[in-house]
Amino acid sequence: MERRAALLLSLCTAALFVPRAASTAPRGPTQIVGFAWKNCGAADDPAVLKALEVSPDPVSIPGDLTASAAGTTSVELDTPLALNLTLEKEVAGIWVKIPCVDEIGSCEYPDACDLLDQLTPPGQDCPEPLHTYGIPCHCPFKAGDYSLPQSDFYLPDIDLPFWLTNGNYMVKGILGRDGKELGCLQVSLRLHSG
Ligand SMILES: *[C@@H]1O[C@H](CO)[C@@H](O)[C@H](O)[C@H]1NC(C)=O
Repeated sequence: MERRAALLLSLCTAALFVPRAASTAPRGPTQIVGFAWKNCGAADDPAVLKALEVSPDPVSIPGDLTASAAGTTSVELDTPLALNLTLEKEVAGIWVKIPCVDEIGSCEYPDACDLLDQLTPPGQDCPEPLHTYGIPCHCPFKAGDYSLPQSDFYLPDIDLPFWLTNGNYMVKGILGRDGKELGCLQVSLRLHSG
């Protein structure tokens, strides 16, 4: 797999599969300690995450990861799906926004469906455990409920960007189409690498 795609996959996996935490009380990034996640969009956003759990804490790269997740969308999610990511790292107690370099960091992606096609070329089976549970890895995603039972992943030892080291991270992703917000997810996690 291409290095950038591998990194994206690891980041997405690390970002998506973190343990359930206080997802009700809205907290600023400066108050988040360890793992937490919340839907950060409007109450009537069509796409929402309902559950998310992962271990261990901190997430280790390389290393094993156990995760489960559940989400729902009331509309079909299809190309082009705009995705705006904001990635922040805690440096000496201050949250610093990481710029978009080489398509990694706080980036605006015109179509998340393209990213998925980079991770798994169309025509190939979806990677495990998605394949086993019949969870799609390409657009379109039909309206409905999606759930991933507790599964084991291995995050490979990849060539990480220099800034992606041990520490606390916050990633916020906003998904939209035709100028309308579809969903917003914010996750904070601790990372241990190397
Ligand atoms: C992403 O950011 C751009 C520029 O700020 C904005 O025009 C666009 O609406 C945003 N898209 C989403 C899905 O938030």
